[in-house]
Amino acid sequence: MDKKYVKDQLNRPLKDLRISVIDRCNFRCQYCMPAEVFGPDFAFLPKSELLTYEEIERLAKIFVELGVEKIRLTGGEPLLRKDLPVLVKLLSQINGLRDIGLTTNGVLLPKYAKELKEAGLKRVNISLDSLNDELFGEINGRNVGVKPVIKGIKAAQEAGLGVKINMVVKKGLNDSEIVPMAKFCKENNLQLRFIEFMDVGSTNGWKMDDVVTKKEIYDLLSKHYLLEPVDPDYFGEVAKRYRYEGSDLDVGFITSVSESFCSSCTRSRLSANGQLFTCLFNGNGHDIRDFMRTGVSDGEIADRISSIWNGRTDRYSDERTEETVANRKKIEMSYIGG
Ligand code: GTP
Ligand code: 5AD
Ligand code: SF4
Ligand code: SF4
Repeated sequence: MDKKYVKDQLNRPLKDLRISVIDRCNFRCQYCMPAEVFGPDFAFLPKSELLTYEEIERLAKIFVELGVEKIRLTGGEPLLRKDLPVLVKLLSQINGLRDIGLTTNGVLLPKYAKELKEAGLKRVNISLDSLNDELFGEINGRNVGVKPVIKGIKAAQEAGLGVKINMVVKKGLNDSEIVPMAKFCKENNLQLRFIEFMDVGSTNGWKMDDVVTKKEIYDLLSKHYLLEPVDPDYFGEVAKRYRYEGSDLDVGFITSVSESFCSSCTRSRLSANGQLFTCLFNGNGHDIRDFMRTGVSDGEIADRISSIWNGRTDRYSDERTEETVANRKKIEMSYIGG
């Protein structure tokens, strides 16, 4: 079927779909799921609330008909969802989809990397915030050392998956790890993304003072490496990228706080229980799951998604002020999928 290409109120096409497959995680990263909040009694979604793989496949096909070219699977930790390669296989058979990626903490990749690759996964983005065991254990809130993640990275590389490393930088916590991480990634031929700490959700105690900006990181890196800017790979690329002079390897920055990129934001997000969100910072989800379960046709679902996207005006990072940080209704990263 021909693609329909829907646009929002700011003329931004719908190009990406991020699907959270589960809201649980085996880590408790301070900036995402602080252990004090996400404790033993926390009410995660029961299995019956989750979209089934068949439902996700059906929705993904509809999204692709509306213009989506890239799908990214997220969580929580997506590899905690049973038989994830089965879903990847279903998605990889959809015509018109250019890219399927997965964002993970990497710990379960030694078990699944090969199967995921065989199922059609192209790339994994693996979170790693420190190379120091003690500090990393403190950040991930589960005392997990660096080694299990490194094993995951190696497994992904050996399976032939594209690999990127995501490092969220928080002032006074892991800014000392910026240069060691760059060195490690350069030595191991890994693309690295430094991510500015964001005010997602309302549990991570975000303060502007905790943000290490792209400029600060760039200035620090420039003392050690010669960097040259790289043109965006595609319209709306999230990271601003630089190449280490004399090599093909790049390093990127995700600058949601210091240099927002809403004007080219083409991303929609589907939560594990089938609510559609039009911005990482917009807490008002639109139900798709229950509507779908009433027995409506694909065309009716497509119309609903189109009308939600048509009405979209979100540009939260462009508008971020002390007032929005304090008062906007926000949604947790582990639920919406980052
Ligand atoms: P690529 O397809 O490899 O470019 O992936 P990605 O960088 O879009 O995805 P990933 O899940 O690795 O996200 C990296 C960081 O970018 C996370 O902190 C995300 O929350 C953040 N991010 C992704 N998309 C957006 C967005 O639309 N807005 C904001 N503010 N942050 C985003
Ligand atoms: N700010 C920035 N990045 C975050 N992530 C999770 N929470 C935050 C936050 N508050 C990152 C994770 C992962 C990606 C999906 O989002 O580290 O790499
Ligand atoms: Fe889990 Fe990723 Fe959130 Fe850390 S950032 S708690 S690994 S979902
Ligand atoms: Fe897109 Fe919202 Fe992020 Fe802006 S803040 S880039 S609109 S998800």
